[in-house]
Amino acid sequence: MDKAIRQAKGDGKPHTAQDSIPFEVIYPDGICKLPGKSYSKSLAFDDINYQLAQADDKTATFENLCDLYNYFDASVGVQLSLISQYVGREEFERSIEISDQGDSFDSIRKEYALMLQNQLSRGNNGLVKRKYLTLTIEAEDLKAARARLARIETDVLNLFKVIGAAAKPLNGKERLQVLHGLMHPDGEPFSFEWDWLPKTGLSVKDYIAPSSFQFGKTRLFRMGKKLGAASFLQILAPELNDRMLADFMEAQDGLMVTLHIRSIDHNEAIKTIKRKITDLDAMKIAEQKKAVRAGYDMDIIPSDLATYGGEAKNLLRDLQSRNERMFLLTFLVVNFADTRQKLENNVFQSAGVAQKYNCALTRLDFCQEQGLMSSLPLGLNQVNIKRSLTTSSTAIFVPFTTQELFQGGEALYYGLNALSGNMIMADRKQLKNPNGLILGTPGSGKSFSAKREITNVFLVASKKDTIIICDPEAEVRQEVA
Ligand SMILES: Nc1ncnc2c1ncn2[C@@H]1O[C@H](COP(=O)(O)OP(=O)(O)OP(=O)(O)O)[C@@H](O)[C@H]1O
Ligand SMILES: [Mg+2]
Repeated sequence: MDKAIRQAKGDGKPHTAQDSIPFEVIYPDGICKLPGKSYSKSLAFDDINYQLAQADDKTATFENLCDLYNYFDASVGVQLSLISQYVGREEFERSIEISDQGDSFDSIRKEYALMLQNQLSRGNNGLVKRKYLTLTIEAEDLKAARARLARIETDVLNLFKVIGAAAKPLNGKERLQVLHGLMHPDGEPFSFEWDWLPKTGLSVKDYIAPSSFQFGKTRLFRMGKKLGAASFLQILAPELNDRMLADFMEAQDGLMVTLHIRSIDHNEAIKTIKRKITDLDAMKIAEQKKAVRAGYDMDIIPSDLATYGGEAKNLLRDLQSRNERMFLLTFLVVNFADTRQKLENNVFQSAGVAQKYNCALTRLDFCQEQGLMSSLPLGLNQVNIKRSLTTSSTAIFVPFTTQELFQGGEALYYGLNALSGNMIMADRKQLKNPNGLILGTPGSGKSFSAKREITNVFLVASKKDTIIICDPEAEVRQEVA
């Protein structure tokens, strides 16, 4: 009897890969029930042009991000996930395929398609970058959680609209797909339908869990056949840089960068700082008394005391008068690789990025499991290493680099994105105004790009589209002749 009860209750330790994944259930509408009374919801958002934007556009984006973070009060946990992962190549290859049309140009079509495939593999090494924002709240039951999350979600979507980044909430299946992708980093296909659950008797976790987790080692973990290492960023720099996140994301292998952001109650934050200032003042007075007793000038106080006092007063002023709030930030980085050696190289590369911005990337020794689970976009932070930052220091981690353009349908190839290396595929006919104009300095390739587009249209849609060339200087005609 005792044995049966023990077996049913378990010993509180995870025994399967499914047990290690710390959520309870994901509902079809995308709400995830976490342990305790926490519920979370995820949004996926797109990139916008940031790194190459003009200074005032950058400032505007930064200020909008500040507004986004200031919107959250202490009851909402925010998790920003930037993920770089391998995806199934088939999907992409299908979208750039050019089917044969049975005329005498099929061989050229094959050659053109081969060129496109080369560009695809050269561009981004098969890595795709995705961004998610996960919101966590506490609620009594699912109904209350749903109502509150819906309200927050609408506001956050509006804030993203102001930033100019397209954002959309993920439904349950999409969230499972994201988690599946993270736990199968080589891009294995995901298949799941809600009505399979009752038929198979499986739980949602069975569809996403990897074949195994191994967290026995101090400084790394194994997930299926991949190795990974979780680290956290020690923010030591007094000044932070908006390029840091973008630089992390340039890694050559799979990577997850996670920021857990939790606002501190505004009055509480001000009270804490005031208390600190009082403490510092008391220490200052004690030093001055000592100085008077010893008979030297009482303006001479330890310089640390003077600088800390000044900094604390500046912070108090920012909080009270300049629309700044305080946040607790946990910054996690998880690297993946196929071999131990490669993994160490990848971690070293990420540590180099941190070093470049005067921060330090420290391995989460003995906490690899917590590190990995906190990096999944579930909205659960199990790593208790927090750094307090003001709104502007939090928003300086700008998650934007460059807008991508990869349309489906009859999209034509327009080159590679100079920053991300991704292919630019666009279908002008889908736009409200499909006209185009090519501008450039003499000899920069204007005629070439026009001819390339003409050729592309000819190869892809010669049966449907008419190509009319007005050529007053007889440039094309000369070449044809
Ligand atoms: N993407 C490209 N890859 C390789 N070569 C290119 C590319 N684009 C242009 N070129 C080469 O650069 C040269 C100049 O290109 P092109 O004649 O198209 O320039 P243009 O801007 O039309 O010049 P102009 O102002 O004189 O009309 C050509 O020899 C062309 O083959
Ligand atoms: Mg020309």
